[in-house]
Amino acid sequence: MKPCETPIFDFLQAYAESGISRLHMPGHKGRPIPGGEAFPFALDITEIRGADVLREAEGIIGRSEEIAAELFGTRATCYSAGGSTLSILGMLRTAKRFGGKLLAVRNCHIAFLNGCTLLDWQPEWLCPPYDRETGLASVVTAEEIGTRMDRDPEIRTVYLTSPDYYGAEADIRAIAAEVHRRGGLLLVDNAHGAHLKFLPEDRHPMTLGADLCCDSAHKALPVLTGGGYLHSRLDLPKSILKDDMALFGSTSPSYLILASLDLCNRWLAEQAREAFAAMESRTRRTEAVLQRKGVQLHPWKTDPAKITIDCRKSGWEEEEMAKLLRRNRIEPEFCGGGKIVLMFSPFSDEEDFARLEDAFASFVPREPLPYPEAEVSPRTVMTLREAQFAPFEEISVSEAAGRIAAESRITCPPAVPVVAAGEWIGENEKKLLQNSGNFSLKVVK
Ligand SMILES: Cc1ncc(COP(=O)(O)O)c(C=O)c1O
Repeated sequence: MKPCETPIFDFLQAYAESGISRLHMPGHKGRPIPGGEAFPFALDITEIRGADVLREAEGIIGRSEEIAAELFGTRATCYSAGGSTLSILGMLRTAKRFGGKLLAVRNCHIAFLNGCTLLDWQPEWLCPPYDRETGLASVVTAEEIGTRMDRDPEIRTVYLTSPDYYGAEADIRAIAAEVHRRGGLLLVDNAHGAHLKFLPEDRHPMTLGADLCCDSAHKALPVLTGGGYLHSRLDLPKSILKDDMALFGSTSPSYLILASLDLCNRWLAEQAREAFAAMESRTRRTEAVLQRKGVQLHPWKTDPAKITIDCRKSGWEEEEMAKLLRRNRIEPEFCGGGKIVLMFSPFSDEEDFARLEDAFASFVPREPLPYPEAEVSPRTVMTLREAQFAPFEEISVSEAAGRIAAESRITCPPAVPVVAAGEWIGENEKKLLQNSGNFSLKVVK
């Protein structure tokens, strides 16, 4: 195999070694703060001659993005130094260019609601039924999406999150087929799924038919926090995607983040497939060990980079189980909503798995604890934008029934808006807000 180029990293390394006087930003001039010698100040530069410009990307950044596009099999891949948040804003802007209505599955991240607010694009909501067994909304089906599109032929863009925070994947191939049959565009928030491309079975949303998709490279791959991708298979010049991201992004993207995306390309090209295959079989082995001890796992989870423990079904409160993990020197990714999410990557080592197995060595399951009712049924009376910009007052949630939310409140994670700005608050929403720890709320005056 030809060694994979790393043009951004090579440029930074050569520049750091050149001894050139840095009469440019940033203010540290490539020299460490005393005591901060371990920090890579020397590689942190701005868009100087030869370093390209992220929003135009015709030099080293452009070349590195081409390599990423080849690795992910996309028509175009743009780097984000602002995580999936920036990629979501950019992809909504691009999709809005095609006109029509937007249908969104409710388990969306706050970045989606913010994008809709900024772009004044009100989503129609699709809320899959709540499942009492798991305490979660069900994973959306292709049939539900097809039915909604048939009911409203003006829907042109469909937006969904997959995998979700707990590691459940939607059937993107079937959904893409339904959306495309009706002439629509499919946008996927794949913030948690960059690695799906490199599993023994490639099930990245771009492979399965998404038109635009964001990945938080930093969540699943060896990339610095903030590194992400916007992938496209649309017949559009890449410059349009760049313009649409530039509308929201900083004009000073971090070269440390860009260089980590660049270095990651080499790892993806040379090692990722084997490494993810090994990780997949290792996480499955640990899951089997936990199950033998009576630990209940989330039944819909398919992402092998996650182990999702259903604490309530195992008869434990999640905080109590988190304490058990911390006593064994494990910090979970998330603990809440009756579940614990543990994230793995090929950079997890044998000790990480062994500690987890040891933590449950003398585990005693108990009678399952029930999940409360949490059906969300939004009633939109103002658009997100109207409500977010309306005069507001902050009141106690106990007095919020009968009012209109002036802000969105999302259970964080798994990122299901309990209320979005512009929605009517009834007794059910009031109870849901209180159950998810919200005690005051901005409402429209
Ligand atoms: C489903 C989902 N989408 C988008 C984001 C935003 O990603 P980032 O933090 O990379 O901006 C997150 C972050 O946790 C997320 O969970």
